[in-house]
Amino acid sequence: MSISTVRTIQDLRAQVKAWRRDDLVVGVVPTMGALHVGHLSLVKAALDKCDRVIVTLFVNPTQFGEGEDFSVYPRSEERDRHMVEEQGAHVLFAPSVEEMYPEGAITEVQVPGPDRILEGKFRPNHFTGVATVVTKLLNQAQADHAFFGEKDFQQLQVIKTLTRDLCIPTVIHGVETVREDDGLALSSRNMYLSEDERKIAPILNAVLCDVAQKFREGDHGSALCDIAEQQLKDAGFASVDYVVIADAQSLEQQVTYNPDHPARVLAAAKLGRARLIDNIAVDD
Ligand code: PAF
Repeated sequence: MSISTVRTIQDLRAQVKAWRRDDLVVGVVPTMGALHVGHLSLVKAALDKCDRVIVTLFVNPTQFGEGEDFSVYPRSEERDRHMVEEQGAHVLFAPSVEEMYPEGAITEVQVPGPDRILEGKFRPNHFTGVATVVTKLLNQAQADHAFFGEKDFQQLQVIKTLTRDLCIPTVIHGVETVREDDGLALSSRNMYLSEDERKIAPILNAVLCDVAQKFREGDHGSALCDIAEQQLKDAGFASVDYVVIADAQSLEQQVTYNPDHPARVLAAAKLGRARLIDNIAVDD
């Protein structure tokens, strides 16, 4: 079956209403395009759970800060459409900026707390942009289920919090990060890496695995993260924004291992033009 491309909220709602009349379960996979195998794993998870799947494609201007890559963010709608069609998605929702942010739209969604730490510290207003657009997309699609990658782990926690607090009935699912064979997490921004940088990039994941293992063995969290930062710099990363061990829900820093409290190791570091983020569970 060929996928249909929908550009307006009205047409999207009409489609979802028709599916609902037939008692079909609807899933949505929000994306900014430049799709890769990681996105396809979200579509697959959605197809496993839902009868009909919408993939949204919208490069959201409000989640990019000054000096970030909004204007050069890769845009490849034709290729993306083909990929999700092959995978079996039913609708591609690709609205314009005017459709998503009509003149006069002033409401923003903030999740104070989870949006101020880690990524939020280094990318002020990023999560307000994410929370606002995701709230809009969930309200527009009115899906039963929505699927997001664990690669953006903090984003996932922000989205879970806002759906809980705003009583949005869509169930949020986190889907495991897809990695290259050498451990590098798939990301649309990996295409900014030069050949030499690409060889260095997987060290980020290797260092996180090492931190998780030593933390489980009883080493002190802060000391491990300090060592990890230095290892990344020594390997060629230009700067390290953070390496932390945090509670998997609140994202508050953890310094001692507690097997009863699921924790994550999270990091962000710059390599050439790319800013890479990654995270893993301490207990895997
Ligand atoms: O993870 C992304 O691609 C984006 O942040 C999202 C969730 C589609 C919102 O623009």
